[in-house]
Amino acid sequence: MSMKKKILVVSSANMDFVMDAPYIPAAGETVICRGSYKYVPGGKGANSAVAFARLGADCAFCTRLGADGNGNALYDVYNNEGIDVSHIRRDPEAPTGLAAIMVGDDGNNRIMVYPGANMRIDNEQILEAVAEKPDALYMQLEISREAVVFAANAAHEAGIPVFIDAGPADPEFPFDRLPELEVFSPNESETEILTGIFPESPEDCTNAAKKLAKLVAARYYVIKLGSRGCYVTDLDREFFSPSFKTRAVDTTAAGDSFTAALTLEYLRSGDMEKAARYANAVGSIVVGRPGAMPSIPTADEVSAFFK
Ligand code: RIB
Repeated sequence: MSMKKKILVVSSANMDFVMDAPYIPAAGETVICRGSYKYVPGGKGANSAVAFARLGADCAFCTRLGADGNGNALYDVYNNEGIDVSHIRRDPEAPTGLAAIMVGDDGNNRIMVYPGANMRIDNEQILEAVAEKPDALYMQLEISREAVVFAANAAHEAGIPVFIDAGPADPEFPFDRLPELEVFSPNESETEILTGIFPESPEDCTNAAKKLAKLVAARYYVIKLGSRGCYVTDLDREFFSPSFKTRAVDTTAAGDSFTAALTLEYLRSGDMEKAARYANAVGSIVVGRPGAMPSIPTADEVSAFFK
């Protein structure tokens, strides 16, 4: 019997169209990019699914791709990563999700997403995937609100813990329709959008977490602080876990793989401090490499990093 944790990711898949800019253009400005443009597999859900698989989970990815060339390419990528693709549907009526990404010199990005087929993940495929009794359900907010609410409740009723990464920020999301989550994890900008507090100081983090708790019930609130690491609280105790120093090349997918790594290590060890440290290591590795999915490390690479 495999002792691998079985994770169900119900979330988004995109093809990323990436250009490296010397800097991010302001409104009305045109900037000439360097090098060539690239098509790179991405999407918050897919990045996390790949992170789960590479870090040693048994991962099923429930998403929707268009019946188009990008969809074919992405399907093959997931299959080659050893991800269970049996709950992926191809949609003849909507294109595969596409993200236009600008990466600046400092490694920071700006992203615009055309969600396409991601918005059409349906209840039937979700129920089918939940019926396989995963150890956890993992989601982000890059698919329809209905799908997130439906999947969270279906999993909760089946006794499956639910982990939600709050990206991208959706202040209109019906958080009151979610069951109690195991982990709710926004990044800095999502925290600011959801609470009105930018998590700068320790006090800001405490106050933001209190506000998050009024919005959504969760056992743990994990605020991702970018290059500073993360803040974790269960509203009883709280701690910071610093990130590891790296030169930022491209932050794309750092958050997606951070939360996946945190989820997996927490399920494996039951120790949230250990999980936060592990997630910071994974995030730091991702930030030091270009691209979304290509930058995600394997479990062996993470072990080597700790040495
Ligand atoms: O979080 C990074 C991801 O956001 C990119 O891969 C892009 O597809 C968007 O979903």
